Amino acid sequence: MPRGDHRLPAALLFLLFFFSSGAFHAHADSSSPSVKFTPADNYLLDCGGARSTTLDDGRTFRSDPQSSSFLSTSEDILVTATNASSASNVSALVISARVFSEESTYSFFIANPGRHWVRLHFYPFPHPTYNLTGAVFTVTTDTFVLLRDFSVPTAAAGPVLKEYLLPIDGDRASLIFTPKKNSVAFVNAIELVSAPDTLVPDTATSVSPQGDFAGLSAYALEVSYRLNMGGDAVTPKGDTLGRAWQPDDGFLTLPGATRNVSVPTRDVKFPDGGGVTPLIAPSVVYSTAEAMADANVTDPNFNITWQLNVEPAFSYLVRMHFCDIISHQLNQLYFNVYLNGLIGVSGLDLSTLTSGLAVAYYKDFVLNASAVANSTIRVQLGPATGSNDGTPNAILNGLEVMKMSNVADSLDGLFSIDGSYRGEPDSGSVARKVVSAIGLSMGALAMGLLLLMVYRWRRRPDDWEKRNSFSSWLLPIHASHSTFCSSSTKGGSNRRQRFGSHKSKSGYSSFFASGALGLGRYFTFAELQEATGNFDDKAVIGVGGFGKVYLGELEDGTKLAVKRGNPSSEQGINEFQTEIQMLSKLRHRHLVSLIGYCDENSEMILVYEYMSNGPLRDHLYGNSAGTAHPLLSWKQRLEVCIGAARGLHYLHTGAAQGIIHRDVKTTNILLDEQLVAKVADFGLSKAAPSMEQTHVSTAVKGSFGYLDPEYFRRQQLTEKSDVYSFGVVLFEVLCARPAINPALPREQVNLAEWAMQWHRKNQLEKILDPHLAGTISPTSLTKYVEAAEKCLADCGVDRPSMGDVLWNLEYALQLQEAAMGQADDPTLQNSSKHIALEYSLSSIDEAGGEAGGGAVAVNEDSGAIVTPHTVQGR
Ligand SMILES: *[C@@H]1O[C@H](CO)[C@@H](O)[C@H](O)[C@H]1NC(C)=O
Ligand SMILES: *[C@@H]1O[C@H](CO)[C@@H](O)[C@H](O)[C@H]1NC(C)=O
Ligand SMILES: *[C@@H]1O[C@H](CO)[C@@H](O)[C@H](O)[C@H]1NC(C)=O
Ligand SMILES: *[C@@H]1O[C@H](CO)[C@@H](O)[C@H](O)[C@H]1NC(C)=O
Ligand SMILES: *[C@@H]1O[C@H](CO)[C@@H](O)[C@H](O)[C@H]1NC(C)=O
Ligand SMILES: *[C@@H]1O[C@H](CO)[C@@H](O)[C@H](O)[C@H]1NC(C)=O
Ligand SMILES: *[C@@H]1O[C@H](CO)[C@@H](O)[C@H](O)[C@H]1NC(C)=O
Ligand SMILES: *[C@@H]1O[C@H](CO)[C@@H](O)[C@H](O)[C@H]1NC(C)=O
Repeated sequence: MPRGDHRLPAALLFLLFFFSSGAFHAHADSSSPSVKFTPADNYLLDCGGARSTTLDDGRTFRSDPQSSSFLSTSEDILVTATNASSASNVSALVISARVFSEESTYSFFIANPGRHWVRLHFYPFPHPTYNLTGAVFTVTTDTFVLLRDFSVPTAAAGPVLKEYLLPIDGDRASLIFTPKKNSVAFVNAIELVSAPDTLVPDTATSVSPQGDFAGLSAYALEVSYRLNMGGDAVTPKGDTLGRAWQPDDGFLTLPGATRNVSVPTRDVKFPDGGGVTPLIAPSVVYSTAEAMADANVTDPNFNITWQLNVEPAFSYLVRMHFCDIISHQLNQLYFNVYLNGLIGVSGLDLSTLTSGLAVAYYKDFVLNASAVANSTIRVQLGPATGSNDGTPNAILNGLEVMKMSNVADSLDGLFSIDGSYRGEPDSGSVARKVVSAIGLSMGALAMGLLLLMVYRWRRRPDDWEKRNSFSSWLLPIHASHSTFCSSSTKGGSNRRQRFGSHKSKSGYSSFFASGALGLGRYFTFAELQEATGNFDDKAVIGVGGFGKVYLGELEDGTKLAVKRGNPSSEQGINEFQTEIQMLSKLRHRHLVSLIGYCDENSEMILVYEYMSNGPLRDHLYGNSAGTAHPLLSWKQRLEVCIGAARGLHYLHTGAAQGIIHRDVKTTNILLDEQLVAKVADFGLSKAAPSMEQTHVSTAVKGSFGYLDPEYFRRQQLTEKSDVYSFGVVLFEVLCARPAINPALPREQVNLAEWAMQWHRKNQLEKILDPHLAGTISPTSLTKYVEAAEKCLADCGVDRPSMGDVLWNLEYALQLQEAAMGQADDPTLQNSSKHIALEYSLSSIDEAGGEAGGGAVAVNEDSGAIVTPHTVQGR
C-alpha cells in the first residue's frame, strides 16, 4: 500500500528523468575494461545539501532541492553540520541532512523493475536545534520494512550506511520515513540504483535443511557484511558497482592460523560465457585470499573460522567468493565449507568447477534462521581431511552476508509495513514454535552428523578398512575390500525376523530339513571332510567375516567350492539364510549355482560350483592370490561385463519377485574355466520392492566404493543401487584399478569420482588401463563409457535399467568386433559404412532360451542399431 506516491506532481516528472539519467556509470574494473554496467535507474541524493556533491569515485549526488518534486513532506527541514571538528574527516555527503518531523515519502520513478540497491546514509552530527542522535524512526518501502524504531546513538563511530538489495516491481518505488512519536527522522544521503539482473540469482544452496533453495528473488536483502579476504579495504571507487569491501582480519577467530595470499589483479580470470563477471565482485577481491598458515606452524587439519555477529531470527544469504590463486596445478585444492557447523560443501573442488586456476567462482548459501544461534554466523573452511597429497589447504577470497526479509516482509522486527504484528500471537504457539525449532535444529544436527559420518567414511580409509565386519564369504575376499554396515546388529536382527524365528542351532537344522527349498544335493560332513582334506587350510580359497571357502574335490573329480560358516557368527547366520533363500529361487547361467549343503552337527556348509578362474578383479590388477592370470583383452572384458550384466538383469527381472544383489563388485563376479562370468554372493540380497512399493527401506549395507550415494542418503533400496555399483565395476574394468584405493592422493581415492572427473573433461583416455592402449575401438569405448556414466547418475531414476546397460554393452561389443573385423580384413577397410555382422545369438540371452544366429546391421552414420531380434530386457 503505497503512501504518498499519488502526490507526485506530474509536471515535475521531468526532474525525475533528469535524475535518473544521472551520470553514474559503473566504474570499469581496471583488469576487465569491457565490463560496464549502466544502471537504468540511478538516483543519488545528497539530502539537505545546498549543492551537489561529487565523490572521489566520480559519482555525483544531487542535492534534493527545497520542495523537492519527489519528496512529500509536511515541511522542509534542511540541516548542515556546523561543528567543524565533527565534519572534518567525514565525507561531504553526510554533513548535511534532511529532517522529518512527520511521515514523509520519497517517490522514485522506476524505469526498469528488478533488483535495486537502496543505500541510506546516516550521520547524526550535533545540531543546535535537532538532536539527531536521539532520533528514532522507521523506514519502509511500499512492501518492505527496512528499519524499525531505528536510531544512531552516536556520531563518534562515523556515518552509518544501511545497504539493501530490494526487488522492485512496478514503475514507482517509495521510501517512507516515519519518526517515532515526539521524535524526528533524518537521512543524509540516499542511493537508489538498478542492480544487474544477474547479481542475485533466484536459487542458492540451503544448508539447513540441506538442499536447494529457490525463490530468492522475492526476498528483500540487507547487506550485513562484505569482506575482502586477505586484502585491504576496497572502496566504492575500486568496485565495479560502487560497493565497499572490508578487510576480514577482525572476524578471524584465530588470525595466526591464516595467512594472506595475493596475486596481481590481472592474473584473475573470469570464465567465458558469463556466470561470474567482475560485476559479481571485482578482480581485486578475487586476487587476495585468506589461506591456511604454514602447516609447519600448526596442525594442518584445522578450520579457518570467521565469526560474524548478526541479528538472530533472520535467515541469511551467504555468498562466498573463491578463486584458486594458491595452487600451481589443477586438482590440488579440496576443502570443506561449513556454516554454523553445518556442511555447506564437502570437498569443494575449484579445479573441476572452473577448469582452471585463478578463475573466479562464487557460491550462494541460505542459512535458515533456525540455524543462526547465538547471534553469530560462523564460516569455517577446512581441508578435506585424509588427503594424501600433502597440501591440505583452504581459501576464501570474499564473503558477503545478507539478511533476508522475514514473514512480515521486514528486515527489522516482526511488524509489517501496515504495522500488523506477524509473530506468533500467543504463548502456546510460541512454545510450539520453540519445540519445532528444537526439532528443526535436531534435524539439522542429525543431518550434520550423517554428513559427518559420510565424510568420515570417505576420508578415513583406515577406519573402514579395519572394520572387518561381515561380508561375502562365498569366494575369495580381499582384505582391502571389506564391506561395512551402518547398524549391523539392528539390521541383522531385522533380517533374521524376515526369515523366521529360528533361534537355536537345531532350529536351523529343521530349516534345512524342510526340503521344500530345492537346495540340491545333501552332503554328509564326512564327505566334505574328505573332499577338502579335512578342511585343510591349504585348501582355503577365500576367507570372509563369517567363515572360509575351501576348494574341494569329489571322488569323480568334480571340483567344488565349499563354504563353511563359522557357527559363532550371528551375522553370518543371517547371511547364510539369505543366501539359501535367494539361491533356492534362482537358476541362471550367469549366477553361481548351489550344488548342495550340509547341516550335520550344527554345521552350516554350502557347496557351490567351483569357478576356476576366480574373481574378475584378479584378471584386472593386483592379484592377491598370487596366481598370475593373463590380463583380459578388451573384447574379453566386454564379454565378462555382458555376462555379469545379464546375471544381474535376470536377478532384477527374472525371478518371481525381483532381487536386489546389494553387493555388486569385481570380487563378486567370478569366472569359470571358459571365462564365463557369474555373479556370486547373495548374502546381502534383498527382495526388490513390489509393485506398490517404490523402494525397500533398509540399513545401508554394501561395499565401500560401490555404494549408491542415493541409497546411502535415503536408505531406500532399489534395483538402481545395483546399477550404480555395476557402473563402478565398468570403470574398474576400464581403468584396471580398485574402486577405492586409499594409497592414492585424495582426489583419486574414489574411482567413481575420479573417472567422472576425467570424463567431464573429456580426457578419460588418460586414466585407461595402459594394457588396453590402442586396442579399443573409439566408438566401442564411447558406447561403453556412455553406459558406465549413466549408471553413476546421482539419482536412481536417471540411471538405466540393467536391461538397458546390457543392451549398450552388447552394442559396444559389436562395435569392437566390427572394428577388429575391419582391421583384420583389408577389403573391409574402405568399404561402406554399413557393416553386417554375424551375431551369435547365444550371446544375446541364454536365459531366454533363444537359439540360432541373426544378422545385425550397424549403421555407423547414425549410430543406430537394427536387430531382427528383440534383446530381452529392453
Ligand atoms: C564540536 O565537536 C567537539 C568534538 O566532537 C565537541 O567537543 C564540541 O563540544 C562540539 N561543539 C558544539 C558546538 O557542538
Ligand atoms: C539526544 O537524545 C538522546 C536520547 O534521547 C540523549 O541521550 C542525548 O542526551 C540527547 N542529546 C542532546 C544534545 O540533547
Ligand atoms: C576522525 O579522525 C580521527 C583521527 O584520525 C579519528 O580518531 C576519528 O575517529 C575520526 N572520526 C570519524 C567520525 O571518522
Ligand atoms: C593481511 O592483510 C591485511 C590487510 O592488508 C593486514 O591488515 C593483515 O595484517 C595481514 N595479515 C597478515 C597475517 O599478513
Ligand atoms: C619448518 O620450518 C623450518 C624453519 O622455517 C624449516 O627449516 C623446516 O624445513 C620446515 N618444515 C617443514 C616440514 O616444512
Ligand atoms: C571444522 O568445522 C566443522 C564444523 O564446525 C567441524 O565439524 C570439523 O570437525 C572441523 N574440522 C576440524 C579439523 O576441526
Ligand atoms: C526457514 O525454515 C522454516 C521452517 O522450516 C521455513 O518455514 C522458512 O521458510 C525457512 N526460511 C527460509 C528463508 O528458508
Ligand atoms: C552460545 O553461547 C553460550 C553462552 O555464551 C555458549 O555456552 C554456547 O556454547 C554457544 N553456542 C554456540 C553454538 O556457539
